[in-house]
Amino acid sequence: MRVLIIHGPNLNLLGERQPEIYGTMTLAELNEFIATAARELNVSVDCVQHNSEGEIINRIHDARASYDGIVINPGAYAHYSYAIADAISSVHIPVVEAHLSNISAREAHRRISVTAASCVGAVSGFGQHSYVLALRALVENAGK
Ligand code: DQA
Repeated sequence: MRVLIIHGPNLNLLGERQPEIYGTMTLAELNEFIATAARELNVSVDCVQHNSEGEIINRIHDARASYDGIVINPGAYAHYSYAIADAISSVHIPVVEAHLSNISAREAHRRISVTAASCVGAVSGFGQHSYVLALRALVENAGK
């Protein structure tokens, strides 16, 4: 199974960006954490990060030909990007949304995810573990 991990905007600054909310792990360390879990799950992963909406949409489109699923943290785009939601709905591979923080427990504008509605499911609030739980959910869900 091949899975694409997409990190959205501002996640390149993990480790220095609001560590009280997002923790002290850098993006490189997070990707290594995900890669270690993926090996245990016997899944091959590639991790990419984009700040712009268009690049994320292109990645989702391109992934349909070469991946079996996507784990995406759309960052703030989760809260208002109908274009990313449409891109997820437009591909036939399953997509699981992951958030480091518990978006349901944060400011009102973060409590809604318009992109999660296009996904098979979402995991939020478990820091780096959200990605691994999302990956595990993709594996468990495969073939259903
Ligand atoms: C986030 C939550 C979003 O509200 C925020 O804009 C982010 C990170 C998370 O992983 O907790 O950039 O997606």
